[in-house]
Amino acid sequence: MQGDDFTKRKLWGGRFTGETDPVMHAFNESLSYDQRMWAQDIRGSQAYAKALVDTGILTADEAEQIRAGLARVGEEWRAGQFKAAPEDEDIHTANERRLKELIGSVAGKLHTGRSRNDQVATDMRLWLMDEIDSLISLSSELVSVMANRAREEVSVLMPGYTHLQRAQPIRWSHLLLSHATYFSYDIERLRALRKRISLLPLGAGPLAGNPFAGLNREALAKELGFEVVGPNSMHSVADRDFVAETLMWCSLFSVHVSKIAEDLIIYSSAEFGFVALSDAYSTGSSIMPQKKNPDSLELLRGKSGRLFGNMAGFMMSYKGIPSTYNKDLQEDKEPLFDAVDTTTACLKILIGVINPEKMRGALTTDMLATDLADYLVRKGIPFRETHHISGSAVKLAEDRGCTLADLTLEDLRTLHPKFEEDVALVWDPEQSVERRNATGGTSKRAVLEQVEKLLAQW
Ligand code: ARG
Repeated sequence: MQGDDFTKRKLWGGRFTGETDPVMHAFNESLSYDQRMWAQDIRGSQAYAKALVDTGILTADEAEQIRAGLARVGEEWRAGQFKAAPEDEDIHTANERRLKELIGSVAGKLHTGRSRNDQVATDMRLWLMDEIDSLISLSSELVSVMANRAREEVSVLMPGYTHLQRAQPIRWSHLLLSHATYFSYDIERLRALRKRISLLPLGAGPLAGNPFAGLNREALAKELGFEVVGPNSMHSVADRDFVAETLMWCSLFSVHVSKIAEDLIIYSSAEFGFVALSDAYSTGSSIMPQKKNPDSLELLRGKSGRLFGNMAGFMMSYKGIPSTYNKDLQEDKEPLFDAVDTTTACLKILIGVINPEKMRGALTTDMLATDLADYLVRKGIPFRETHHISGSAVKLAEDRGCTLADLTLEDLRTLHPKFEEDVALVWDPEQSVERRNATGGTSKRAVLEQVEKLLAQW
């Protein structure tokens, strides 16, 4: 603190006489990371200056000076020319300090009735609403890319797995759409979440509300694009549920990403060889020249740990805080920013990654054992019996060292007399997937119907 120059004092410096320990300053400051909300901080302050005119705290002319001054501060940030001062604590104090340097003492009226407590909550919500919009649009793009790919490659068949054992033939598109379906629900969750973020804290003051008659919070909400005015000032300054929910969303989303990443990692191994990862998303080995590593997918899978960690870490800071604002809440920003950045990057990589090839070769007739059982069901035999008969056929083929399709009609007749010539049709995987034609199934019609539904969502 130097002399009486207001601009050199900490904004809360009045009752403090000692210097802040520099280690404490570094521990306390958030400007190094909350500066990314500079534009929202300026927007919020400009709207607040306008609102203060209704209370008589600012004349229209003063409000205009403040708004114009804030616009200049914003230009400095945009041009990368904003210079932080050593005493700046966070984006709120930095912007106000600079405003004062630019327009003089009238800047000191801006903070009347406001607190950094309602200010920071406002900035974060404004910032996050924009980010959620961009996550919605990237997720929609991802689902569209997947749905379009599924439509293009609807004729590719592959084994479907349970317990990672070959189970039943499916269309590759069906698998792709199963993942796209998770992502479409993620979009639905984002839309619901956005509504809860869209709540105006400004006008809550430090905790008890704004004391100046005439402050029109409804107009403030409208000006800033919030759907509702925070209904309780103590809630407004303390509530970070919207941060927790976003982090939870990111965690669940990353679980979905890790699942498709894992499928693709397995399917791109030489043992499966179903998909080939494009060079743009893989790397080579420094020692083994034949290798093409699915690094992009492994990172996508690995990021789920980091995203879950952001959520778990923040929840630990958030729990047990007494009402209302406490500095613990500053711990909301780094996990939130990191989660949003990581999720955005995951979406962009995943959109680029999807690239299928060569799956049909892995279709084997043992995967048609259920179809063999269903064949007899269509001839009137109860499924519990046919399941057993089909199991005996699998065993017989295994003992003979041949495939199911190699069993002759006579072999099958030893298991049940109702087997006839047409059993040969069972061994066609195309027919197998086409039989699964009920809504949500893997037949061409049912798959294309899923594509249309997913694409029609936006
Ligand atoms: N940098 C602070 C934060 O991020 C702003 C709010 C400070 N409020 C206060 N009462 N110290 O939470």
